[in-house]
Amino acid sequence: MSNIEGFSIDRLDLSGAKALVTGGAGFIGSHLVDYLIKIGCQVRIFDNLSTGSIDNINNQAEFLLGDIRNQEEIKRAVAGVDFVFHQAAQINPAKAVQDPMFDFEINAQGTLYLLMAARQAGVKKILLASTNLYGNATYPNPQVGEYVPILGMANSLLSPYAASKASAEAYFKVFNDEFNLPTVRLRYANVYGPRQKSKGGSGVLAIFTERALQNQPLSIFGSGNQSRDFVYVADVVRANIQAALSNQANGQIFNIGSGKDTTVIKLAQKIISLTNSQSLIEYLPVRVADFEHVNIDIKQAKDLIEWQPLTSLDSGLTNYIEWLAR
Ligand SMILES: NC(=O)c1ccc[n+]([C@@H]2O[C@H](COP(=O)([O-])OP(=O)(O)OC[C@H]3O[C@@H](n4cnc5c(N)ncnc54)[C@H](O)[C@@H]3O)[C@@H](O)[C@H]2O)c1
Repeated sequence: MSNIEGFSIDRLDLSGAKALVTGGAGFIGSHLVDYLIKIGCQVRIFDNLSTGSIDNINNQAEFLLGDIRNQEEIKRAVAGVDFVFHQAAQINPAKAVQDPMFDFEINAQGTLYLLMAARQAGVKKILLASTNLYGNATYPNPQVGEYVPILGMANSLLSPYAASKASAEAYFKVFNDEFNLPTVRLRYANVYGPRQKSKGGSGVLAIFTERALQNQPLSIFGSGNQSRDFVYVADVVRANIQAALSNQANGQIFNIGSGKDTTVIKLAQKIISLTNSQSLIEYLPVRVADFEHVNIDIKQAKDLIEWQPLTSLDSGLTNYIEWLAR
């Protein structure tokens, strides 16, 4: 039995299976690659290194440098694999506003190319890194349940990034239902942990931690009582692996979060305390279209794939701080 960062992986046996991780040089994808290799999987990474880093690439994995917008490259990447973990994406909401077509080509069209290749290659299961689609300062006070209907949701999407990620989800559903390609969609909350960068679409936790380590002020927009759900990257990795292995995970959407709300003020105080920082908290006017609370219901992942988050915010933050300060 092995133990990785506090969770048992004795039942997560993928020995001999072949997995493709798109975006495997990125923050979440690279952790997924490392864990898949530890549990006996043969892993291929497909990444164009646009936001990912060569330093994140596990030297036991096969690395294909390629772009999700290139259909031929994707076909080569998918050939011969059992599982596909699709983490590659354009993740910067501001970039999606500046250039919606670029965002569409990677997040929607690229996902469609990948599904077509996976269907043709007969993969056992393909999993999508999706998002809490309201989590981009676009929707007032959302209650993010497990079963937000796609059509209803389409009427609520207020950013190009949300639209492209929702398109990816819609194609996943269609390929599952119409083409019998086993799919799973995992909607991540705010993921944090080692290898996360504070720039280009990352959230408040990474920015606060970097600033606290430099004793710079932490800026809170509004009262600080707005809350978010922060989930540690190892928990997200385990959710992917459990969903890949579980026969119960077939076609569904699973919310993957801590299931707990943390206010921004509490987060700032926690980070200042854990880093022994001299940082002050400064309050700035509330930003237009910022949303108040996110309520991530993780019941379906608990019930169907027996997944639950195991890393507390304190212990995950401690790991992240150690990594940043290394
Ligand atoms: N980090 C979070 O809090 C969070 C929350 C919700 C969903 N997600 C989703 O999780 C996934 C991984 O996000 P992350 O935070 O690890 O981001 P990341 O930027 O670290 O990883 C994305 C990876 O995809 C690669 N990539 C980007 N465009 C590509 C292209 N055209 N072709 C091939 N590779 C390409 C990048 O080089 C990078 O390695 C994304 O799909 C993202 O939407 C992340």
